[in-house]
Amino acid sequence: EKGTYPHYMLKEIDEQPGVVRKIIQEYSDANGELSIDENILAALKEADRLYIIAAGTSYHAGLIGKQYFEKIAGIPVEVHISSEFGYNMPLLSKKPLFIFITQSGETADSRQVLVKVKEKGYPALTITNVPGSTLSREADFTLLLHAGPEIAVASTKAYVAQVAVLAIASFVTAQSLGKDIDFDLKQELAITANAIQTLVDSKDELEQIAEDYLKVARNAFFIGRNIDFYVSLEGALKLKEISYIQAEGFAGGELKHGTIALIEEGTPVFALATQEQVALNIRGNVKEVVARGANACIIAMEGINEEGDRLVLPKVHTLLTPLVSVIPLQLISYYAALHRRADVDKPRNLAKSVTVE
Ligand code: F6R
Repeated sequence: EKGTYPHYMLKEIDEQPGVVRKIIQEYSDANGELSIDENILAALKEADRLYIIAAGTSYHAGLIGKQYFEKIAGIPVEVHISSEFGYNMPLLSKKPLFIFITQSGETADSRQVLVKVKEKGYPALTITNVPGSTLSREADFTLLLHAGPEIAVASTKAYVAQVAVLAIASFVTAQSLGKDIDFDLKQELAITANAIQTLVDSKDELEQIAEDYLKVARNAFFIGRNIDFYVSLEGALKLKEISYIQAEGFAGGELKHGTIALIEEGTPVFALATQEQVALNIRGNVKEVVARGANACIIAMEGINEEGDRLVLPKVHTLLTPLVSVIPLQLISYYAALHRRADVDKPRNLAKSVTVE
């Protein structure tokens, strides 16, 4: 039930700090250490390559999962869009493990890949929010998101849950493989939950940003580099699906290779700057678009923020920034949709679970 909330989406956005805390709990063992099912751990360790298969927002979470498994656990990962995988199947490694990321567990595009994979006898793990869903039943293993039912069509808390579970799975695998790890994920996730809380408590400011940047916008751009690039894709998807403002997310470095032609006086550009390593480069991109008239909104992580940035994100571990930077993008999209009187929870032409290919 949405209780006093005007929309499920807003309620689900607000639930996100609690979702992260719940996941920490669900994935802690009796000694308080992060852990996952031992059969799943064995499958992850045995694989020479992971193939993540997903659609939409879940695909965007998968892109971040790739970073986690490669950077933390040292396991190569490919991420594929479910609907493309059938006819554009890559050459597989010797010991692949397929990971299906799906909030609903019912997405037909993903299921058709699972069916094919099982026919070939490869192991499959489903990461889903719905116990007993089709993709959970038909895979060998399941990791649950524990996000609670997600009713709004636009996915918010499931994305955050997917990223958190991927972080835990890669961390536990890395530990078990004896990798050098220089951070305590459990502690970093707890800090992240607090940072998410700060942002969901900043609704007035985020509504103002939606007003300032999107009130009359026909289109909008989201840019980022490194892990911020993936969150840019998610920010653009969120905005277009609920507000119907045409939006595009792309890598900052790609601007000059075409998209910059679309920048006009007043074009909104949201730039994410959470990664110290590329902070100067993304700021360079912002200068390029501002010089052409863009209305740029810089969202930067505390510590690398500068004067003039529109929003400062509380500092979290550099790998966990997607859990934090996505929150303002969700809320900005929510308010942009609200200002346009769009049906936030049930956008036109969309269904919560897409059970046709
Ligand atoms: C976007 C959204 C969709 C879903 C996609 C996959 O907000 O909700 O892009 O992420 O349809 O759905 P699941 O995760 O249920 O497989």
